[in-house]
Amino acid sequence: MSDELLRQVQRHGSPRPVHIAVIMDGNGRWARGRALPRPFGHKAGMSAVREAVEGALAAEVEVLTLFAFSQENWQRPAEEIGALMELLQEYILKEMAELVEQGVRVRFLGDLDRLAPSSRDAVDRLMKATESGGKLALNICISYGARAELTRAARLLAEEVAAGRMHPSEVDEDAIARRLYTAQFPDPDLLIRTSGELRISNFLLWQLAYAELYVTPVLWPDFTRRHLWEAILEYQRRDRRFGKVTV
Ligand code: IPE
Ligand code: IPE
Ligand code: MG
Repeated sequence: MSDELLRQVQRHGSPRPVHIAVIMDGNGRWARGRALPRPFGHKAGMSAVREAVEGALAAEVEVLTLFAFSQENWQRPAEEIGALMELLQEYILKEMAELVEQGVRVRFLGDLDRLAPSSRDAVDRLMKATESGGKLALNICISYGARAELTRAARLLAEEVAAGRMHPSEVDEDAIARRLYTAQFPDPDLLIRTSGELRISNFLLWQLAYAELYVTPVLWPDFTRRHLWEAILEYQRRDRRFGKVTV
């Protein structure tokens, strides 16, 4: 797909982000703006997921990590949770063939044990079906909370130390990073949050240490590949210093 924005991204002298993380927010407000029940917003948000994936493929982003359902979201009304879980299964059923064809490898990150068996089966099926995808790693965070992820890493380390397989002096940053769900991926270079909210909401607290932050007022269901490319272009204009001095 040829598009002026995409060409600008490709021609820009600065590197593109290798890993983009997205807090997909604003589905409820999108629905409210149309006097529709909240689940309609979540449904509309599914096409934005497709847009983000296609935009990432076109821009040759290697890793796309989407925040779809947080640990805290379990506190929402049962009907909304039910609708979200149904949509998850619908997404998997609808998109599986295309994701395989596009070379997208999907992984679900989070406390998947909390999912109902039917959702868990669907999630496992998609991960298995896309196993050989090598173009884009698509991580979908579900039942995910960063503090829980870090707590889990601490517990795993404690178990290894207690079992005598590890010495406390070996507990370093790398040892922690290797016990996070994202162990095999580089940290996100760019975090996008839609719907204008200026917070992290317990997402990738460790991994976002040096991510560039990009907040757009666009509500998630209205998000298109062009919005993704705009965010990438803005990222390319940033000066990442990592605490050092640039001349
Ligand atoms: C994001 O949209 C989707 C999930 C958190 C599951 P919201 O449902 O949070 O939408 P708003 O923030 O209420 O508009
Ligand atoms: C963050 O959005 C979680 C997801 C996008 C899945 P929320 O809408 O749940 O976050 P808060 O409540 O605005 O912090
Ligand atoms: Mg929200």
